[in-house]
Amino acid sequence: MEFSKTIQQRQSVKSYRTDKVISDSDLDELMQEVVLSPSSFNLQHWKFIAVKSNDTKKKIREAAWGQEHVESCSFLIAVCGNLNAFEDAPIIYQDVDPSIKGKVLPMIKGFYENKKQLQRDEAIRSASLAAMTLMFGAVNRGWDTCPMIGFDPEAVSQILELDESHIPVMLLTLGYRKENPRPRSPRRPIAEVVKMDTLNGPGLMS
Ligand SMILES: Cc1cc2nc3c(=O)[nH]c(=O)nc-3n(C[C@H](O)[C@H](O)[C@H](O)COP(=O)(O)O)c2cc1C
Repeated sequence: MEFSKTIQQRQSVKSYRTDKVISDSDLDELMQEVVLSPSSFNLQHWKFIAVKSNDTKKKIREAAWGQEHVESCSFLIAVCGNLNAFEDAPIIYQDVDPSIKGKVLPMIKGFYENKKQLQRDEAIRSASLAAMTLMFGAVNRGWDTCPMIGFDPEAVSQILELDESHIPVMLLTLGYRKENPRPRSPRRPIAEVVKMDTLNGPGLMS
């Protein structure tokens, strides 16, 4: 599909068919693309938990304001951020030229170590970029998604057995839509959201 069309067609879909589901191998193909998302130092601060079990979806729905699409989707993807991704740098850089590795590994350690806020920011940034790739990749395959932060993070972390290194960044429903698309939600004018040179500059094209 032409990429601009993919962007136009993506909408948050809140109702899914339960008679037609996405297979594990189809999800695998999508995820092969998702992991091509960018991340700082290529640290890939993401982990995805693909929830297929109806029991687990039910539990998460209870922790997510009872939202129906949590349960009806094919997969509920918990997009998680790894706060300690920087510790994996030696593995990620294992095949890199030793002269580069010798410089980059200490740089990564110095950049992240003991910086809790930065570790969290980076986990959220990288996981969010991957989530966007997932949403576009899904539309490209005729599927739909809905990003969600309407859930209790502590309860969801417990259900998904997340450890101290991982935070739930967002949930994504993934499946075949049940109904035709709603009218597109309104967007702020470009001139209001794109400012030239500084925040106080003129709006683009104004
Ligand atoms: C970070 C984030 C959290 C969201 N949380 C929820 C949610 O909990 N439940 C829900 O139904 N939609 C949720 N949405 C979807 C938004 O309502 C939707 O993206 C927005 O209204 C724009 O509509 P569109 O995605 O169809 O273009 C969320 C979207 C984002 C980006």
